[in-house]
Amino acid sequence: MVLKTIPQKKRSRKKKNMKFDIITIFPEIFEFYFNCSILKKAKEKKLIRTKIHNLRDFTDDSRKTVDDKPFGGGRGMVMKVDPIYKCVQFLKSKFIKPKSKIILFTPRGKKFNQKIAYQFSKMEQLIFICGRYEGVDERVAKHIADIELSIGDYVLMGGELPALIVMEAVARLIPGVIGKSEFLKQRITKEKNFIEYPQYTRPPKFYPEEKFWRVNPKIWKVPKILLSGDHKKIEAWREKHSKII
Ligand code: ADE
Repeated sequence: MVLKTIPQKKRSRKKKNMKFDIITIFPEIFEFYFNCSILKKAKEKKLIRTKIHNLRDFTDDSRKTVDDKPFGGGRGMVMKVDPIYKCVQFLKSKFIKPKSKIILFTPRGKKFNQKIAYQFSKMEQLIFICGRYEGVDERVAKHIADIELSIGDYVLMGGELPALIVMEAVARLIPGVIGKSEFLKQRITKEKNFIEYPQYTRPPKFYPEEKFWRVNPKIWKVPKILLSGDHKKIEAWREKHSKII
């Protein structure tokens, strides 16, 4: 009897390509960072794509106004809803991907963490709205954004730095962006929200000047276990010293 081999379905090996769309009035901030970070490498490897959209290009007046005085009075200016709406509408009409999220950066938002970074890394497109000035017209949060995100309980001048932080945290979780061993380490320990254990490299003993002594370690030593070659003990030590969030 001749056994027929069933032809295996060819699996698509197409690498995932994540698109980041950034809406900002400070495009220069991103250009610099994109050219000297893991984001640069990820772009070169075509694992991510980034597109910066200058919000001022979506205004109608000659002064390219993106902000206005708040209704009800008060200090400062508020970013207008219409240019943001127009920009998102443009993105939707052109290249919105099915697995897409629109994120508005604000200190009032949900606190960003590693778990959210993992969820975002499964997306095909992230659209970042970087607020500035004293705030953004609330209708953006209510009707345009899918999620409001904060990177911590402090107030920055705008959403540009938060956008870069989120982008880097997400990009490094995309297969191929960081080295294989580092990526595997992340995968294995993903469920536990593992963060990192302390790392050491040569020399095993370092002799600092006296003014650097704190309590009394005149010699800064690497923990003995790490030099022992006993992999089981090293694993246990690392597990014990891992920071879990
Ligand atoms: N904009 C200003 N401060 C912020 C913060 N902490 N997180 C996100 N966006 C912000």
